[in-house]
Amino acid sequence: MTAMALSIRDLFLSFGGVSALSGVSFDVRPGEIFAIIGPNGAGKSSMLNCISGLYRPQRGTIAFGETPVTGLPPHRRARLGIARSFQNIALFKEMSVVDNILVGRHLHARTRLLSAGFSLPSARISEKAQRAKVDEVVAFLGLGAVRDEPVGTLAYGVQKRVELARALASEPKLLLLDEPMAGMNSGERDDMVRAILETNAAHGVTIVMIEHDMGIVMDISDTVCVLDFGRRIALGSPSEVRDDPHVIKAYLGEEDD
Ligand SMILES: Nc1ncnc2c1ncn2[C@@H]1O[C@H](COP(=O)(O)OP(=O)(O)OP(=O)(O)O)[C@@H](O)[C@H]1O
Ligand SMILES: [Mg+2]
Repeated sequence: MTAMALSIRDLFLSFGGVSALSGVSFDVRPGEIFAIIGPNGAGKSSMLNCISGLYRPQRGTIAFGETPVTGLPPHRRARLGIARSFQNIALFKEMSVVDNILVGRHLHARTRLLSAGFSLPSARISEKAQRAKVDEVVAFLGLGAVRDEPVGTLAYGVQKRVELARALASEPKLLLLDEPMAGMNSGERDDMVRAILETNAAHGVTIVMIEHDMGIVMDISDTVCVLDFGRRIALGSPSEVRDDPHVIKAYLGEEDD
């Protein structure tokens, strides 16, 4: 039996009296596209924040492959190969596209730079290698025309792509995407879907993605996990989940608000 890419067991997370996650468990297989869906406030971002280490669950365990990561801080998880994008864009607006992507790369460089003892030639070679990797990601995501523009001047959809680029620059094994298509027009959505599929296919990156666009979720996910009020109410293939009465009820209930 091959190890799971990610194993979530019985996670509980609350903020004061508010319960964000109540005993959620699931496994993500290596190389799959795993979608987390559910109504607003269901606990989706909280789950992603627990996986990346931003939030610490009060109970439960998280394993990345065979490695328990439940107690590790975010930067340690990042170094193991977990990268993410945020629900609200978290880029340095005054910095160029390339420099924002380099930030993602530095994480990767850190250990090697330190072990090189900052000797000038190796530091310079390393800087060159970093730039080469950034150029590769820029080309992969079609950001060449805007590479030197300050991020804050770019269209929203392009900024979302820069966030993906920064995550990819760290060469992750697991990519966590919190609503990567939110606020995009249909052309931008198509581009983002293509980028996600290519990342998954070309590099075998496992993807856990929160997304509200059901058409896209049904199209590209291997597995869908549905959360509602911090509980897992369904888990399965897109078609299994779509026909699940609990899911239909959760979504119809939302329309009454
Ligand atoms: N940092 C926080 N402090 C206090 N409460 C929080 C915090 N983060 C999340 N919550 C609460 O936890 C619950 C789940 O929130 P979460 O952001 O995980 O939902 P979500 O499914 O991502 O919703 P949305 O679709 O609106 O993004 C909500 O009641 C929310 O108010
Ligand atoms: Mg959210």
